[in-house]
Amino acid sequence: MAHHRILTANIEYDDQRQIAAYEKRGGYAALRKALALPPEQVLAEVKLSGLRGRGGAGFSTGMKWGFVPKNSGKPVYLIQNADESEPGTFKDRLLLERDPHLCLEGMIIAAWALGSRWSCIYIRGEYAYPAVCIEQALAEAYARGYLGKNILGSDFSLDIILHRGAGAYICGEETGLIESLEGNPGRPRIKPPFPAVVGLYGCPTVVNNTETLAALPWIINNGAAAYKAIGTDKSPGTKLISASGHVSRPGVYEIDLGYPLLEFLNNECGGIRGGHRLKAVIPGGSSVPVLRADELAGVCLDYESLQAAGSMLGSGGLIVLDETSDMVETALNLQHFYAHESCGQCTPCREGAHWIEKIVKRILAGRGTAADLALIESLCGQIGGHTICPFGDALITPVLSLMAKFPEEFSRLIDQGLDSLVRESYG
Ligand SMILES: Cc1cc2nc3c(=O)[nH]c(=O)nc-3n(C[C@H](O)[C@H](O)[C@H](O)COP(=O)(O)O)c2cc1C
Ligand code: SF4
Repeated sequence: MAHHRILTANIEYDDQRQIAAYEKRGGYAALRKALALPPEQVLAEVKLSGLRGRGGAGFSTGMKWGFVPKNSGKPVYLIQNADESEPGTFKDRLLLERDPHLCLEGMIIAAWALGSRWSCIYIRGEYAYPAVCIEQALAEAYARGYLGKNILGSDFSLDIILHRGAGAYICGEETGLIESLEGNPGRPRIKPPFPAVVGLYGCPTVVNNTETLAALPWIINNGAAAYKAIGTDKSPGTKLISASGHVSRPGVYEIDLGYPLLEFLNNECGGIRGGHRLKAVIPGGSSVPVLRADELAGVCLDYESLQAAGSMLGSGGLIVLDETSDMVETALNLQHFYAHESCGQCTPCREGAHWIEKIVKRILAGRGTAADLALIESLCGQIGGHTICPFGDALITPVLSLMAKFPEEFSRLIDQGLDSLVRESYG
């Protein structure tokens, strides 16, 4: 199946980072077109396209923009979320490094539609090289009149600044990000109010993922109907999938939404490495439930199909695990990450994340008991739905889904551990 190249059409060109090459391949034509339209029409086009946020939740972009109050008398802020820290997710990086002007052009179009005059790209602290690429692109865009005062001779003026994070995963959560931008520790806020109404400095703020914004130039150039015609009815367009783990060809691939997951693994990723058998996939970054190989027949890479299968498309970070994977070790690896990244402001998350890690570690070491499994479930029950931000639900997902899908691996370690304890005690 041939896939549309909406986001990655030019990433193979080494000169694409330079503004002259970007313009030569049609770059900034969409911005000219958008500026000739009233902002409301650009917003309507984005709504019609059915574009859904690519940061994880898959919420309608046009609808989110529509929540920004009109004529509130306050400035509207637009933030590009390039914090990309979800384990298994490395798709925005490709765009930031290989086509930074695409990320800027989409953002300028969004700023026009939203009436934003000051915008910010919040980039993951570890993304030092992508930050350099964006810095250079910003300087070029200012020099060419795509940013700054009276863009392309219009009465629209916009400044974009680049802000580098400091290595905290939670600053990818939009309100944690906003706190961090304000100079505070990145601790998420209680919602509502949602940022579209009360965001940065108490003003209406739209936070959009890099990939979401990068789709806008194509939508403006080709029209909402053309975008909607790609993918599935409820999941239109293309999606970047970052495939990692035990495949022959890991990497970032652009697919039409609705593509069968097993075909993706075989065709794009070259199948499972070294002739091994597929054991499981975590399809949307570490925060979504694992699916066993035997559950994947007929499952497609789109929001609805993965949800029906009991997981989520999330950020499109597809982690592939072959038969050599130990699922208790996998659980420990992920729980260690979440214990480390809790921002600490909610007790269930701050305390529970470390408890879960400790118990899984005990099971892996052969010192667990059957009561530990019940204890993990009870702890997760006290965390899920009882925290300020969705990190609490995210942190319980790996261990709960791995325990549910591979119970025998947990109980085998517990049984073996008890056997060896008995042997040690009675010689
Ligand atoms: C713990 C946590 C981490 C997140 N990390 C990111 C991230 O790195 N990048 C991102 O775009 N969205 C991330 N999100 C989602 C954002 O809160 C927000 O929904 C997203 O940036 C909205 O953009 P979109 O509508 O274009 O998807 C995260 C959410 C949570 C709960
Ligand atoms: S759930 Fe965890 S990460 Fe989110 S606000 Fe509470 S303590 Fe912080």
